Amino acid sequence: MKDYLKAVQISEKVYYVGAIDWNVRSFHGYRTGRGTSYNAFLIIDEKVTLIDCVKKPFFNELMARIASVIDPSEIDYIVSNHSEPDHSGCLVDVVNAVKPEKVFASVMGEKALKAYYGEDFEVTPLKTGDVLDLGENKLSVLETRMLHWPDSMVAYLDKDKVLFSQDAFGMHYATANLFADENDYSVMTYEAKKYFANILMHLTNQVRGAIKQLGELNLDVKILAPDHGPLFRTPESIAFIQNLYAAMASGDRGRKAVVFYATMWGSTEKIATALADGIRSAGVEVKVSAIGASDRSDIMTDVLDAGLVCVGSPTMNNQMYPSVADVLTYLKGLLRTTNKIGYAFGSFGWSGEAPKKIQAELESMKFELPFEQKSTKYNPFAEDLAEYFEQGAALGKMLLESGK
Ligand code: FEO
Repeated sequence: MKDYLKAVQISEKVYYVGAIDWNVRSFHGYRTGRGTSYNAFLIIDEKVTLIDCVKKPFFNELMARIASVIDPSEIDYIVSNHSEPDHSGCLVDVVNAVKPEKVFASVMGEKALKAYYGEDFEVTPLKTGDVLDLGENKLSVLETRMLHWPDSMVAYLDKDKVLFSQDAFGMHYATANLFADENDYSVMTYEAKKYFANILMHLTNQVRGAIKQLGELNLDVKILAPDHGPLFRTPESIAFIQNLYAAMASGDRGRKAVVFYATMWGSTEKIATALADGIRSAGVEVKVSAIGASDRSDIMTDVLDAGLVCVGSPTMNNQMYPSVADVLTYLKGLLRTTNKIGYAFGSFGWSGEAPKKIQAELESMKFELPFEQKSTKYNPFAEDLAEYFEQGAALGKMLLESGK
């Protein structure tokens, strides 16, 4: 065991025993520029309980942190709030090592864990309202199906007032500072938005439902403990993340614009720049991203609170650029209740299908498309660029004048 890996006490009975993954840069295709953490928690009560595990390569780190406060074989219960392998990857190893009395998961979690680890893997299902008596504390659970997997649930420890929220309210952010109030709020705002955009954006309605459900429970939360990133232990930091979630889940049309594109010989890039200048001239904040220079997950973060999305591509072999198709496919999976204006543009040599195909994709995603797609043969000259500028200005004005 590595004796320098210590648990951190976060309340009277609860210890942080997770792992920090400083160097992960791809989380199933999501670019994690700041790494992440896999948070797990040990409740030392009459029933010693482990809340969630960590990704498989971090098994030793988890066990070392547990061993810094208790003999791991004293663990009675393991509660798996979420079966995705970043939290259950070493669950079987932990069970083999500590031989707990019981492993608990949600009703759907039982099915998921058996599907992952075999029908013989014993799991006791818990449903919303079920309560585990741990001794001085009681642990109650709330199933949060599709937040963001069918098995997801959250658990509340009543005496210490800790809400273990699994992925919800989390972010991919590896930091040596365990608590949010010790970190930079601008970094956390960006990373929480990025997490929401790339994991939860298509589940906005469910997020709103869960926020409402949790609100109705009127829980007194002193520590909000997600499975990724910093923990929230002050009223200010708890309000910060709750307010941010409420805003992100509001469904309101953002007042910013995003222009993203691929370019072959620079023509589509010139058009993108002219379009963006026009949007800016209308008083709208705009972000311009060349695909490749920006990862798809960064583009998605900008799309989250953008009310206007412009997508450009050259035509190559009668198609849009593959990198544009990649981002559109990703976007299609993440948007459900589109409340955004869209616009397609591009350049071409002899056919010019790309912007038409982009427009069709945006239409299928229910973007509002006030203007027909537009493209230019080979090279946009000054008069062409002036037209794109005007088009951008018109789109920007439309965004500012539109409702929620
Ligand atoms: Fe952090 Fe959905 O796993």
